[in-house]
Amino acid sequence: MSVFVIGGTGFIGLRVIRLLAARGEQVVCMDINPNAAPFADLGSQVRVLRGDVTQFDDVISNMSAAKPSRVINLSYYLGSEHAPHVATKLNILGMDNCFEAARICGVNRVVYASSLAVNGMQKHYGDRMITEDDFRHGTNQYAVHKIFNEFQAADYNEKHGMTITGIRPANVTGPDKVRGSVDHVNCVTQPARGKPVSFPHKDAMRCPVHVDDIAEVFTRVLMTDKPRQSVYNTGGTAISLGDLADIVRGYLPDARIAFEKETGGKEISGNYMIDNSRLIEEFGIQYRPFRQRVLQIINEVRAQENLPPIAG
Ligand SMILES: NC(=O)c1ccc[n+]([C@@H]2O[C@H](COP(=O)([O-])OP(=O)(O)OC[C@H]3O[C@@H](n4cnc5c(N)ncnc54)[C@H](O)[C@@H]3O)[C@@H](O)[C@H]2O)c1
Repeated sequence: MSVFVIGGTGFIGLRVIRLLAARGEQVVCMDINPNAAPFADLGSQVRVLRGDVTQFDDVISNMSAAKPSRVINLSYYLGSEHAPHVATKLNILGMDNCFEAARICGVNRVVYASSLAVNGMQKHYGDRMITEDDFRHGTNQYAVHKIFNEFQAADYNEKHGMTITGIRPANVTGPDKVRGSVDHVNCVTQPARGKPVSFPHKDAMRCPVHVDDIAEVFTRVLMTDKPRQSVYNTGGTAISLGDLADIVRGYLPDARIAFEKETGGKEISGNYMIDNSRLIEEFGIQYRPFRQRVLQIINEVRAQENLPPIAG
């Protein structure tokens, strides 16, 4: 089977491509930055092309040449600081270009990345888990674009009978994450490098989930012919930065992690209590224990720094 991956050389995409290749799929990746991830070891199974998702001609010509039976779009601007015209072009028009090209190419199964950001702050929901059916309270540029992407997908599904599925990853974590939410990443990677790190609030809550688990989620949902739902929360581990710091100190007793304020932060946190039972029950996915993932990140960073691994 051939899979067309847009934005495949990024943080999540490069892992999705490796999982698809491991399943024996042929992959054609189109990215504006094609050299960001090396796939030479996968030989002819993975082809990487330079293409801009905001240019319909790039999308339709590369997709039709690839003749895929599945399409996944991971290209996006993370964050909300982008100029409106630029962000709209990539996040909204780029998504439409992907869906429209898939429709024209006769590709019924498409997966795209939404985000936990659609829900906004946890305080809108109180102290309870948030499901996919809850009202979406997100208000910043990134959140509103993701909310509109979910509408775009529903519109194509309704009017063109497509099966386009959205995944709402929580706070994805991994040693090479540099865009999006990174405080929970730096809380692990900086101490692993022996560097000090500080954060405003000890009680700030996050919902980290490891990028290898997220890549597995995208791959499993993408390769399913008839998913039961059109949107899935990935969920993750609800944890405060203070508690995450304690896990890190358990592995690295000399870790220098400081907080400007010992209390507060919870009430200004984005949503972190996320119900992922839809995904877990339908796909039988099991995430590795979060503590193990923290150790994995520490040791990956230490390997890069030529430091010996920490024992589990
Ligand atoms: N990383 C997270 O914590 C997280 C959380 C929730 C949702 N998501 C979503 O998952 C998706 C992937 O995230 P990521 O962390 O891998 O992001 P990333 O920035 O690492 O990857 C995005 C990829 O898109 C490519 N791209 C950018 N503009 C393009 C264009 N015009 N044409 C073609 N390719 C283009 C980039 O070169 C990059 O390879 C995004 O939609 C993101 O919003 C990520």
